Amino acid sequence: MCGIVGILGQGPVADRLLDGLKRLEYRGYDSAGICTVHDGEFDRRRAPGKLVNLAAELAAHPLPGTSGIAHTRWATHGAPTVDNAHPHIVGDVVLVHNGIIENFKPLRDELLAEGREFKSQTDTEVVAHLIDRELGKGFKPREAVANVLPRLHGAFALGVMFKSEPDLLIGARLGAPLTVGYGENENYLGSDALALAPLTQRIAYLEEGDWAVITRAAVQVYDRNNDPVKRPIVNSGASGQLMDKGNHRHFMQKEIYEQPVVVAQTLRSYLRPLEEQVALPDMEFDLGSVERVAIVACGTASYVGMIGKYWIEQLARVQVEVDVASEFRYRDPVLTPNMLGIVISQSGETADTLAALRHMKAAGLTTAGIINVPTSSMAREVDLLLPTHAGPEIGVASTKAFTCQLAVMAALAVNLARAKGKLSPEEERDIVHHLQEVPQAMSNALAHDGEIEAMAPKIAAARDVLYLGRGPDYPLALEGALKLKEISYIHAEGYASGEMKHGPIALIDDSVPLIVLAPSGPLFDKTVSNMQEAQARGAQVVLISDADGIAQAGENTIATIEMPKVHPLIAPLVYAVPVQLLAYHVAVFKGTDVDQPRNLAKSVTVE
Ligand code: G6P
Repeated sequence: MCGIVGILGQGPVADRLLDGLKRLEYRGYDSAGICTVHDGEFDRRRAPGKLVNLAAELAAHPLPGTSGIAHTRWATHGAPTVDNAHPHIVGDVVLVHNGIIENFKPLRDELLAEGREFKSQTDTEVVAHLIDRELGKGFKPREAVANVLPRLHGAFALGVMFKSEPDLLIGARLGAPLTVGYGENENYLGSDALALAPLTQRIAYLEEGDWAVITRAAVQVYDRNNDPVKRPIVNSGASGQLMDKGNHRHFMQKEIYEQPVVVAQTLRSYLRPLEEQVALPDMEFDLGSVERVAIVACGTASYVGMIGKYWIEQLARVQVEVDVASEFRYRDPVLTPNMLGIVISQSGETADTLAALRHMKAAGLTTAGIINVPTSSMAREVDLLLPTHAGPEIGVASTKAFTCQLAVMAALAVNLARAKGKLSPEEERDIVHHLQEVPQAMSNALAHDGEIEAMAPKIAAARDVLYLGRGPDYPLALEGALKLKEISYIHAEGYASGEMKHGPIALIDDSVPLIVLAPSGPLFDKTVSNMQEAQARGAQVVLISDADGIAQAGENTIATIEMPKVHPLIAPLVYAVPVQLLAYHVAVFKGTDVDQPRNLAKSVTVE
């Protein structure tokens, strides 16, 4: 992952580069750096850790120069130290890099054998050396980059500048996103349109294998065969405003609270209230011909896929396979004609999911994408874009994107069911009514925030926490455990409640909190039996259910959280709220960095 910004400016660029990095910090925050070209020399500031450290360094030692590149890092090769922080300088070349150079070891060995010395453990420095070597052979900067690019394997985006040519910025893209921004006698390079939003809205997205030669006066893009190509300049529509937390203490808290609004916003574009129907955007294929579905995603989005499997199989009677994207391609899945491939992603850039999408397309599948960032690579490559309208999600732990993805998944399941002739108009009307209830039910769930905060210290003291759920609430148990792990660093696991007795029950004693997600309904009694098996062994149960469920099974628990009574279909959307709030309050109580938890990044553009 990592974020890249480059500016060929008319005035000083350091502050603007830092501002661009702030917009890219979601991509990683292990270290950051900026290098400018000034009076024919490179001038560089780097700092380990979050961007505030680089900002302090710049305040203490301002950086002059009207052209420069900048980087925020998510470490792949080498610890997050100053030496490993980008930009990397070798001779006349300075370089920033996002992604992984997979063949860096043989390249490094080759360069070491020639007597070259490395100052970092990164794969990136190898590229700077290779370009420098070409310059040494007498090649001009453009030719030097063109000679080196074919030697690099992996998925990456690069930004390169040269001491001798301060009016030149070269960007290259293979497998990681990169955009060129067009200004007034200025031009830019950035990992995404958001990074460049305060500078320009006029953006060209580089395509796979493209590289761009940028000066203040002109931009020329070349494809992987070095043929000049034109990439359309579009209006990015990205907001130049930096997101703020409003009255909230953290972005995550703000985003949890936004859910009734953004889920309503998302549902609005998929529901036709007058017809009492669900509707998808126009598509060029017949949903009725879909015989199988493959859903691929990573992390939180993959749990939406698992819930989607329950919904699609139940409503549309179409077989669904769900994979985490990192496994999908390499297990050589059986992809058959009339199969619909679905990717789910907040960022639309996750490398594993993007690779899976391309794999599905290459196999001839029609593809759909449930995606939050409409300008992302996936959004541009799917046959059918099913947007979520969550708005920018800044907190690294996904919350509102998750519930908006669920809302779209429900709409897709209903459409598929109708197209397959498995859903009567009455049944569809019922579901539309239930979906319309979701925003209000989420608001009711949010009203329990105080109780959840009050129980956080008990959970924060635990070493392990287990989450149980059945049916569509089983993936929600997985999501609950993931949320807790991500931001509070407490070990947590989610299990299908019936599976607990096949192993995890061995972990249970009176120090283990067990969070049980059990809306009353057809699966309730079975889940409660599993819960009681754990209680008999001393488990500290927190029961999340509705009033009926709590009346039946709330005894001998350490706490109950009462959800509004909702149809089992929409329960995962509503029960997501207490699950998120619990993780949030435990993390706040423990004093961890809620919005930027250690080792994580919001957009993971490496495999
Ligand atoms: C990262 C984030 C997760 C997220 C996953 C998938 O690992 O830390 O919160 O669920 O990527 O991201 P995507 O943008 O594809 O939804």
